[in-house]
Amino acid sequence: MIVTGAARGLGRDYAGMFAADGASVLLADLDAQSVGDAAAAIFETVPGARVGSVVADVTDPAQTEAMAAAALDAFGRIDVLVNNAGIWGDLERSPLLETAPDYWDLVMAVNLRGPLLCTQAVVGAMREVRWGRIINISSMGAYMPAGVYGVSKLGLNQLTFALATELGPSGITVNAVAPGPIDNEATRLQVPPKGIQKMIDGTAVGRMGTAADLFGMIRFLATEEAGWITGQTFGVNGGFSSRL
Ligand SMILES: NC(=O)c1ccc[n+]([C@@H]2O[C@H](COP(=O)([O-])OP(=O)(O)OC[C@H]3O[C@@H](n4cnc5c(N)ncnc54)[C@H](O)[C@@H]3O)[C@@H](O)[C@H]2O)c1
Repeated sequence: MIVTGAARGLGRDYAGMFAADGASVLLADLDAQSVGDAAAAIFETVPGARVGSVVADVTDPAQTEAMAAAALDAFGRIDVLVNNAGIWGDLERSPLLETAPDYWDLVMAVNLRGPLLCTQAVVGAMREVRWGRIINISSMGAYMPAGVYGVSKLGLNQLTFALATELGPSGITVNAVAPGPIDNEATRLQVPPKGIQKMIDGTAVGRMGTAADLFGMIRFLATEEAGWITGQTFGVNGGFSSRL
């Protein structure tokens, strides 16, 4: 399997949890140093882990093709793709009317073009065995004013639905998980304390989520049992949507 954006944050956490489950995991990221370090750390902490790393910018088709080739070289198949790589910032300070065209292009390229290119790169191998699971990491930001980030993630939900329709006959499911606010490094760096409290207050359960809170759904969507579930976007958010 491949997890993109796995050099740090949630992608690194998912990769470690899948490896602990016994999956063969290729960590992909454009941050060359950190993605290698992340794979090495999993190898050290998970006995017998089958992990590798590859440097890949998900916005570049040559690099996503090379990423898929590296996974096939290492493991002989690609059964699961987790399209996790994404960029996001201080959502409340990103009004669309002030968004610079270059920032729009960057966010749309990483968050929307990236998952499409990665999917295009892996479907050949999945079609050959008539089995595959593609899991796109969306966001609750898709359902609220969240600047270009929200636009990109709502687009990702549509990409999920449309690709599921195209790939269903090949035995490949495509679903999205839309996390609510997660307590991790990126959130602490990008969201001021006032914003974090607002996020906590917006959940029904009264706390931020963790990578482990998200992983149960992601792991399930990667299983055989989830074969009749496709084209869906699942909110995993501590009841965040119920307070909008
Ligand atoms: N943290 C949250 O609260 C939260 C909430 C909802 C959704 N999400 C989504 O979860 C995903 C991961 O979030 P995170 O908090 O771990 O973010 P993060 O910033 O910690 O990690 C993102 C990773 O993606 C990589 N990346 C960025 N651009 C890339 C590119 N062009 N090619 C390859 N890799 C690239 C970065 O190097 C980094 O390792 C994102 O898609 C984000 O939108 C996060």
